[in-house]
Amino acid sequence: MCGIVGYIGEDKAVDILLSGLKRLEYRGYDSAGIAVLNGGMQVSHAVGKVQQLADRVYRDWTPEFISATRLGIAHTRWATHGPPTENNAHPHLDQSGRIALVHNGIIENYSDLRQRLAAEGHTFSSDTDTEVLAHLIGEYFDGDLLSAVCGALRQVEGTFGIAAICVEQSDRMVVARRGSPIVIGLGDQETIVASDASAIVAHTDQVIYMDDDDVAVIERDGVDLRNIHNVPVSRQVSRIEWDAKAAEKGGFEHFMLKEIFEQPEALRNTIRGRLDLGRASAILSGLSLTSREMAEIQRVVLMGCGTSLHAAMIGEYFFEDLADLPADVEQAAEFRYRNPIIHSRDLAVAISQSGETADTLAAVREAKNKGALVAGVCNVVGSTIARETGLGVYLHAGPEIGVASTKAFTSQLLVLLMMALKFGRCRRLSRQSGEALCREIEQVPDLVQQVLQRNQQIAEIAAKYSAARDFFFVGRGYLYPAALEGALKLKEISYIHAEGYHAAELKHGPIALLHADVPVMALLCDVPGKEKTLGNVEECKARHAPVVAVATEGDRDAIRICEDVIEVPRTSTYLSPLVTVVAMQVFAYHVARLRGCEIDQPRNLAKSVTVE
Ligand code: AGP
Repeated sequence: MCGIVGYIGEDKAVDILLSGLKRLEYRGYDSAGIAVLNGGMQVSHAVGKVQQLADRVYRDWTPEFISATRLGIAHTRWATHGPPTENNAHPHLDQSGRIALVHNGIIENYSDLRQRLAAEGHTFSSDTDTEVLAHLIGEYFDGDLLSAVCGALRQVEGTFGIAAICVEQSDRMVVARRGSPIVIGLGDQETIVASDASAIVAHTDQVIYMDDDDVAVIERDGVDLRNIHNVPVSRQVSRIEWDAKAAEKGGFEHFMLKEIFEQPEALRNTIRGRLDLGRASAILSGLSLTSREMAEIQRVVLMGCGTSLHAAMIGEYFFEDLADLPADVEQAAEFRYRNPIIHSRDLAVAISQSGETADTLAAVREAKNKGALVAGVCNVVGSTIARETGLGVYLHAGPEIGVASTKAFTSQLLVLLMMALKFGRCRRLSRQSGEALCREIEQVPDLVQQVLQRNQQIAEIAAKYSAARDFFFVGRGYLYPAALEGALKLKEISYIHAEGYHAAELKHGPIALLHADVPVMALLCDVPGKEKTLGNVEECKARHAPVVAVATEGDRDAIRICEDVIEVPRTSTYLSPLVTVVAMQVFAYHVARLRGCEIDQPRNLAKSVTVE
């Protein structure tokens, strides 16, 4: 949701902080701010993009002042408490104005704390929970920032990722986290902290991922890690596996387009070293369960949000069809609040690209509380969900910067397919079937490449529908969740009202909306139920709705009855959603591009929804 960057070192802190914020801007923003120490506290805020803040800083602060800054913190805000205004932008100061704080997360008891502080004479200039926390730290401050932060955080209910600096201690900053990530980058005579490694990777690949209730004193040559009770703790140093270049656009107009076209490579990385042709199974080292333990699992509960929920819906088919395992799908927010029935013989699978989605993280904790085995399927190494689940499989898809998830989704499908294969081979799936599936999985990157080669044709079709105000996506079986995902892609980047429906559902209401200006995308790949969906297409055409199909190449029925057809390679049912969704990603991208939309950072959206 929001982005945090902190720096202490030999270099110009202002420049490093602002460039770090720019790398985080994709996470969602509506305002930004910076605070540096240089003979005193200097703070600047701006509403809008990070560039507005940079323009103000370089206008208001002299080059000499900027060159002398060695310590500072900065923040891009995605409003949760209070509208996006300069007053509400972080950093916030304590009552004395000598402590500055940036914060991600939500302080749930902030109004009680605010009332108590106000009764003691504190005055507030914003509507935010963060300012209350800054004042609370100031109240605890007696010359040592670490103990003040620990004391204040012990009063806090809710989530936080914070960085704080104070005038009295200009050789350090203090950071802490609970539920909102903070990563510490260890450089040469410099230390940089951020809410996301993509702001750090240009400086160092040696990082520490903080755990909940960790607090740390950050100096230029080292880190002193404590817990919230000020007791020393130790955390391992990890290496970031991708470089700064990987986080750049690589010549593509948008991160999203780059990530769509990266899918063959990303999928190769997802598969790499994980197919065991000898055993006709999958090697998933993070799923450290014995065959006996896997055979004893009685049910799989797949959970996630948004695109990851759609992956969960397809995973349900995989586990039931390949592993003969009952499977359920849960929207993570629903799961965490409805007192779900889940037992110790159940495996909960939390799917999350970022590994930081608040509702999915809470669902993980609920499943653990109820004794279930919990595995994570995440892309971000060291993310909170990845670390809290213990078991799990990383996507290895590389950083996904575009807010609309693309390569992570297809990688999620492959990971879930390989998990189902592994479970299946401990149960009823034959060696022959396992081998056939391994061989098909090996083909996936090339199959996706074939879809991407139709980019120009898809762009031409997209141009015909880019003025649509409403759009339906319909499919059956494995292609029903794919239809939901295709609709989500279109709506979130082109702002067209797009709905995904089971093809059989159309006549139960939605068909009332069809007319010549409401196109329908029908997923017609050769999978069970295709003939029925063809019948649904006829129903749409009878209402004059134009139908564009995603169909198996050479499908004469689809070509005969549909206005336009995007042809994809023939695959088994298992892989039909994967090749289909790539076609819809490309379609949505071109529609949004033609509509001049902000594709990488759609309005109102953030890459990682770390608040409820
Ligand atoms: C997908 O295009 C959206 N950006 C959104 O639905 C996303 O999938 C959802 O917020 C879940 O994110 P996660 O996978 O990081 O948990």
